[in-house]
Amino acid sequence: MNQAGLHLLLTRSSCGLLQAPAPSGDVLEHILQAGLRAPDHGHLQPFQFLLAEGEGLQRLGRLLATSAKQDGAADEVIERAQQMPLRAPMVITVVAKVHSHNKVPEFEQHLSAGCAVMAMQMAAQAQGFGGMWRSGPLMYSRALHEALGLAEQDQIVGFLYLGTPATALRQPTLVASADFVRWL
Ligand SMILES: Cc1cc2nc3c(=O)[nH]c(=O)nc-3n(C[C@H](O)[C@H](O)[C@H](O)COP(=O)(O)O)c2cc1C
Repeated sequence: MNQAGLHLLLTRSSCGLLQAPAPSGDVLEHILQAGLRAPDHGHLQPFQFLLAEGEGLQRLGRLLATSAKQDGAADEVIERAQQMPLRAPMVITVVAKVHSHNKVPEFEQHLSAGCAVMAMQMAAQAQGFGGMWRSGPLMYSRALHEALGLAEQDQIVGFLYLGTPATALRQPTLVASADFVRWL
């Protein structure tokens, strides 16, 4: 049995308090490769990872703020949007690059991209880093999609904040599986 693999699955945990350094080099490559191993009906590879660190985080913040403004958000929301990416040394905006396909609906391609987010978070954890999957209304903002150069059918499925955990990862308490199961 692969105990380490099982342990990672059972202890996956988000970390919202992230500091430098961000994953880089081989570690980052493993994270991206883990994302690209997400289940993918039809091998459509409906993934795009928009990486931001350093100045890129400032640029992402400005895009979020401008998009929030275009969407008519209140001033404090616009200000908060600008600061959001600065909560970690790296943010990966994960996009479902949706392909038109007669057998693979859009929804399945969104699921694939979502699986990629979790796989990347777990690959980060496996290598001693931490991550947090975040979202918010801007994920669905046409203005942001356009600012990021996304196509009409594309969908952001998450902002994966990555970095070095500033606190110990929470040890999750396992819940009773029976509460979620019904045998057919
Ligand atoms: C699609 C998606 C979007 C999420 N968006 C947010 C978010 O914007 N802010 C937040 O605090 N948590 C968000 N979460 C939840 C966290 O990523 C995390 O799962 C939660 O805090 C529970 O922690 P755990 O993963 O360690 O169990 C989101 C989760 C998913 C799956």
